[in-house]
Amino acid sequence: MTARIAVLASGGGSNLQALFDHLAALGDARGGDVVLVASNRREATALDRARSRGIAAEYLAEPADGPSLAALLQTQDVDLVVLAGYLKLVPAEVTAGWSDHVLNVHPALLPAFGGSGMYGRRVHEAVLAHGARVTGATVHLVNERYDEGRILAQWPVPVMPDDTAAALAARVLRVEHLLYPRVIDAVAAGRLSVTRPAAAIDDAPGAGACFDFARHAAPSGRSIDALLTPSFTS
Ligand code: GRF
Repeated sequence: MTARIAVLASGGGSNLQALFDHLAALGDARGGDVVLVASNRREATALDRARSRGIAAEYLAEPADGPSLAALLQTQDVDLVVLAGYLKLVPAEVTAGWSDHVLNVHPALLPAFGGSGMYGRRVHEAVLAHGARVTGATVHLVNERYDEGRILAQWPVPVMPDDTAAALAARVLRVEHLLYPRVIDAVAAGRLSVTRPAAAIDDAPGAGACFDFARHAAPSGRSIDALLTPSFTS
């Protein structure tokens, strides 16, 4: 039986699309199915992506209303809650009710460049302003504070000398689309332990380090080194 996944999104939902594509590619081997997409923005493209697939799509008029959101998730019998470009705090009723089963992707290497107000273009502008040479994508558990939950996986991305925030955002987003669906599927299938001292995948002994997880998850035939070279950005 596959896990039932709810996705919370505020915008375009490119990570939602990457999740749809990855689960479809896995076919019967997938660990979960998206059964609900909810957004605090009525016009979010993510809701359209769900409707076009016949998946329940809900507008959250009061995203801070924890009991209502928890009730919606219960109605759909949700096992795993996934944030994909969701800009609101997840209420305690949800983080407690789905303990260790609420995930987010952040477009930097947490705990750097995270926290309240650090989203979208601002993250990449801050990375450039600080002169950081490496940034990346982080998948982490969600608690009641922005970007502070336990880190599950990270994938480093180089900052190039002539980078703009837009170019950097695009390079990081491509990595997000590779990493996040694989972590979601691993958690959904119970292959990724989120409670060990270092998050590890059951079927990949020794892959406890997040960087190794990225290697494990790389598309066949492509080494992590190839994925990190500047040519990956083209
Ligand atoms: C992504 O960079 C993600 O890390 C952040 O929101 C951005 C947009 O996501 N949380 P999406 O295209 O709406 O999935």
